Amino acid sequence: MMLSSCFRGTGPTARAGFVRGLHLGAPNPGSVINDDAYNNVSPSVAAKIGKDLHRCSAHPLGIIKERIELYFQKNTQALGQPQFKVFDDLPPIVTVEQNFDELLIPPDHVSRQPSDTYYVDAQRVLRCHTSAHQTSLLRQGEDRFLVCGDVYRRDEVDSTHYPVFHQMEGVRILTEEEAPARWDVSQRKEIASKDLKRGLEGLATNLFGNVEMRWVDAYFPFTTPSAELEILFRGKWMEVLGCGVIHDEVMDNAGRTGEVGWAFGLGLERLAMVLFSIPDIRLFWSEDPRFSSQFEAKTLTTFQPYSKYPPCYKDVTFWLPEDNFHNNDLFEVVRDVAGDLVEEIRLLDDFIHPKTQRKSRCFRITYRSMDRSLTNEEVDRLQEIVRGYITSRLDAELR
Ligand code: DAH
Repeated sequence: MMLSSCFRGTGPTARAGFVRGLHLGAPNPGSVINDDAYNNVSPSVAAKIGKDLHRCSAHPLGIIKERIELYFQKNTQALGQPQFKVFDDLPPIVTVEQNFDELLIPPDHVSRQPSDTYYVDAQRVLRCHTSAHQTSLLRQGEDRFLVCGDVYRRDEVDSTHYPVFHQMEGVRILTEEEAPARWDVSQRKEIASKDLKRGLEGLATNLFGNVEMRWVDAYFPFTTPSAELEILFRGKWMEVLGCGVIHDEVMDNAGRTGEVGWAFGLGLERLAMVLFSIPDIRLFWSEDPRFSSQFEAKTLTTFQPYSKYPPCYKDVTFWLPEDNFHNNDLFEVVRDVAGDLVEEIRLLDDFIHPKTQRKSRCFRITYRSMDRSLTNEEVDRLQEIVRGYITSRLDAELR
């Protein structure tokens, strides 16, 4: 089987392919790291910019993305409506206004903290969701669109969390025929809500077949009412997406006061892990042909695990620095040192010294490669570097 260019090679060729793969207008990965006091983008995260896994048609993420696009295009065709415009190469550096303010995310919301979001400088971030493009596109006059792209969050280290993942966003503004401006606004929003739910239930059926579904009330600052769709999958309720009727103030921010529409957002990795039975989120980034050769454009297949190599556990305990330490700071240090060789980091113990009130934490780091057995020497070396960085970068004291 022909491998897509997205998968070809490792080492120098892959680097060349990566540069070639950069889409027009994409930032140079180096440019997201700078001396600005706000800058907290790590090299391992910067290296992911421009990889565009969602644009690889024989990659599980590309397959899911195309399937969702096709669903919406077929749906609108059947209804005789215009197609959704697809934006899948918008650069991931956005302004703080786009990522937070215009979406009514409160100034003190935790997601704005540098412990959670990657800042390029005081004004710009690596988008933490594709919703960041909603307002600008609405302002440009777009009425129905899908946005797909890589999003960035500082987060835990385990089999379902990775600092870069992919989302798909959908937005549609109702036409004057569907919901005339002279009607009561609550009635127009009711129409939007019904249209949204019908469309998304159809999407879930398209992806998962005839599964049981339920709507759960949710809260997002930029939609009201808001909801989450869950499906019963292998005996468990699983959240598939978040959505809602676009908040009036978001419409105002986009210069579209008085119009009514809906929006939804979903994570591609979560869906792909279930639909392809992919057990670890790191696999999406693997260039091992034993992974990549298993997928074919437009086809949902069950991933055949090739083998599981032994894990190696290392514990580390340290006194926290005096001011603002966040567990994510440690997670990032380990990711920077070990890359995809770190599988999980778990907090084992959180201790406060009864006399001095000094705080100490103990973490268990699981090292495991998905492609080969790690040697003891290799893991020891990684752990030594991690320990060194805990002192030098985090300003913490090892115990
Ligand atoms: N941006 C949300 C997130 O990342 C997902 C989302 C929820 C998008 C509701 C939407 C929406 O457009 O209406 O969790």
